[in-house]
Amino acid sequence: MLLSGKTAIISGAASKRGIGLATARRFAAEGARVAILDIDAAAAAEAAASLGDGHIGLGCNVADKTSCNDAVAQVARQFGVIDILINNAGITQPVKLLDITPEDWERIQDVNLKGVLFLSQAVIPHMRARKSGSIACMSSVSAQRGGGIFGGPHYSAAKAGVLGLAKAMAREFGADGIRVNCVTPGLIGTDITAGKLTDEMKAKILEGIPLNRLGTAEDVAGIYTFLASDLSAYVTGAVIDVNGGMLIH
Ligand SMILES: NC(=O)c1ccc[n+]([C@@H]2O[C@H](COP(=O)([O-])OP(=O)(O)OC[C@H]3O[C@@H](n4cnc5c(N)ncnc54)[C@H](O)[C@@H]3O)[C@@H](O)[C@H]2O)c1
Repeated sequence: MLLSGKTAIISGAASKRGIGLATARRFAAEGARVAILDIDAAAAAEAAASLGDGHIGLGCNVADKTSCNDAVAQVARQFGVIDILINNAGITQPVKLLDITPEDWERIQDVNLKGVLFLSQAVIPHMRARKSGSIACMSSVSAQRGGGIFGGPHYSAAKAGVLGLAKAMAREFGADGIRVNCVTPGLIGTDITAGKLTDEMKAKILEGIPLNRLGTAEDVAGIYTFLASDLSAYVTGAVIDVNGGMLIH
């Protein structure tokens, strides 16, 4: 097992068909104890219970610093140590540039980008004290190619911000034994786009994907597992594409 005896926090892991819960399942199967932090506290508790004994599900709004601090303190009390942080929570909105309101901008930046800062700020002191930790952050192909798939320009901007923030964290905390990496998925079949993608949109997107299928939550969970585990012990500041070849660069 790749994560035997490790503890992990995964944000945004309550949604049933989501990347976070698929990752939580994979981590548990690899021997980790998992804390699911999600804005939906009841769903987080239910998701954690579905993993078996010893896992935790807590309500946490990643866009709120106090909420992050409180949730991480509770995880630290229950698990003792925190080895892995997966900054996975995110929201999107299909909207054109001229239609973005100040409120839309704030909401999308707050959850996707500020959330990575606040949760990392809460977890890093625990990792630094033990000179060990792995953090993986959720960006998107949308950051690399300037959107054009589903999320609007404000989503592309937030996810591009995640790349810069994660690389800066990798540089700052390498000496503390903390690795920080990003994943950049293409289009993954989850509830974030469910019901909002027409068959026509899907067919058009598939034309641009060499592997000729949408990604699955498990496709991304596998990469998060690699980044969380010691298999990637010498990998930091990296960005791993999980996009079926949608963007080859
Ligand atoms: N599905 C895709 O095609 C795709 C592609 C690239 C990147 N992503 C990113 O992957 C991540 C997971 O998305 P998903 O596709 O599994 O979608 P999802 O909607 O199934 O999961 C998102 C989860 O985040 C939670 N969440 C939302 N706001 C939150 C907040 N303020 N605090 C804490 N939790 C919050 C939701 O409750 C949900 O459980 C997101 O960051 C998304 O932007 C998704």
